[in-house]
Amino acid sequence: MCFCLSLIFVHGLLLVSAAAEDYSRADFPADFVFGAGSSAYQVEGAAFEDGRTPSIWDTFTHAGRSNGANGDIACDTYHKYKEDVQLMVNTGLEAYRFSISWSRLIPNGRGSVNPKGLQYYNNFINEIISHGMQPHVTLHHDDLPQALEDKYGGWRSRKIVKDFTAFADVCFKEFGDRILHWTTFNEANVFSLGGYDLGILPPGRCSFPSRTDCIWGNSSTEPYIVTHNILLAHSSAVKLYKEKYKTTQHGYLGFNIFIYWFIPYTNSTNDMMATQRAFDFYVGWFMNPLIFGDYPDTVKKNAGERIPKFTKYESIQVKGSCDFIGVNHYATLYVKDNPSSLESDSRDVSADMAIQVMSTDQRDDKPKDVFPVSPMGLYGTLEYLKRVYGNPPIYIHENGQQMQRNGTLNDTARVEYLQAYIGSLLDAIRNGSNAKGYFIWSFLDGLELLDGYNSGFGLYYVDLDDKERKRYPKLSAEWYSNFLKGRSTSQ
Ligand code: NOJ
Repeated sequence: MCFCLSLIFVHGLLLVSAAAEDYSRADFPADFVFGAGSSAYQVEGAAFEDGRTPSIWDTFTHAGRSNGANGDIACDTYHKYKEDVQLMVNTGLEAYRFSISWSRLIPNGRGSVNPKGLQYYNNFINEIISHGMQPHVTLHHDDLPQALEDKYGGWRSRKIVKDFTAFADVCFKEFGDRILHWTTFNEANVFSLGGYDLGILPPGRCSFPSRTDCIWGNSSTEPYIVTHNILLAHSSAVKLYKEKYKTTQHGYLGFNIFIYWFIPYTNSTNDMMATQRAFDFYVGWFMNPLIFGDYPDTVKKNAGERIPKFTKYESIQVKGSCDFIGVNHYATLYVKDNPSSLESDSRDVSADMAIQVMSTDQRDDKPKDVFPVSPMGLYGTLEYLKRVYGNPPIYIHENGQQMQRNGTLNDTARVEYLQAYIGSLLDAIRNGSNAKGYFIWSFLDGLELLDGYNSGFGLYYVDLDDKERKRYPKLSAEWYSNFLKGRSTSQ
């Protein structure tokens, strides 16, 4: 066993940590689960088949916003799910994470259930289970039915709470006898910020005078309102589950956020405080209500009247509404203090943070199409969640390396990335983290949010020029498979 000593900052404290480099599956707890993941719109295809209606993500891509690409056919998992499950089995996955397309299951967002949608997810879940793998299901992965966006503004309206709860109810009722791990939302923080402030994700809303590529909204308030509605919808679905299903189904309900590991650019007090603000806005904006029942003080102070207040009842309902936290972690960023952004007249969430962030590769000459490998960021993230939020059960729902899609099947950079991050995860577990599972993003090269099909994260390459959408294993699939099957993974 080889260990590398590293120095990292955790919340202002300098820690010394050993990064395990040579390890095996057997070093992890037996009940720890390893898998890979996807989301409905990124892989399913069959966008106009069997009664599915568009989601806000279809609308976004068809407006040319994902590099001109869309998920109309994608990897065609809708038709090839049996083949995909066989690939999962060959790889040795213990679990598979996927999302349910709301507009495939309930085409109008509310009301009648689409029998074909129901049949597809039943078949898919049964196929996964019959091969001894655990299905981990996400209910909302950026793909709200467009019908609800058109009807009342989707997540901007409080009406969404009832409709989301009704959708969750259908999922619990129809699939809950076989699903133990439910995540209500994927990357709620990125959805809120990217979709309603920066305008770079569905539904593509922002309000910057110079931008012509986004829908004019009110970015100074919308992300705060959307976040509030998401938290209320999540907690309402959890409440429903506890009241109606908990005694018969015994499932666990969680909430997923994207977490960068932030480190101060310099050791000045201002940069250290800016780093804490970055955590408060990115992580605390969701985690504080979920764990403590209210937004962090910094967020409330800098957003002022623009952030909704929890009523006493809402606060009680949101607090403690998670059995686990899903974490998507990819990279580490430097944070610099940026007080001038608070002077702007038209403040949005980004300005409220009063920070400037930069990639860690801006200090060296790493190629820009890959995430810099800074595995201690995962260790730091898990330590932070342990120290600040009382060590809740954690599933690493996403972690992986983005590379040019039509590059090579010999994806050594991805293997190095995964090897390093899984080692860092092991360190965190040995140091007491309550991490329960790890899912590589992603199983297949699917549609990427910003990049369309130019880059991919997959263990498997999908040939989009082939009508059959043939899948090809990359070196990373072989590496992961060897790791999962307990064979030597040394390069
Ligand atoms: C986060 C999202 O959940 C997923 O949809 C996306 O493909 C990956 N990160 C990579 O960008």
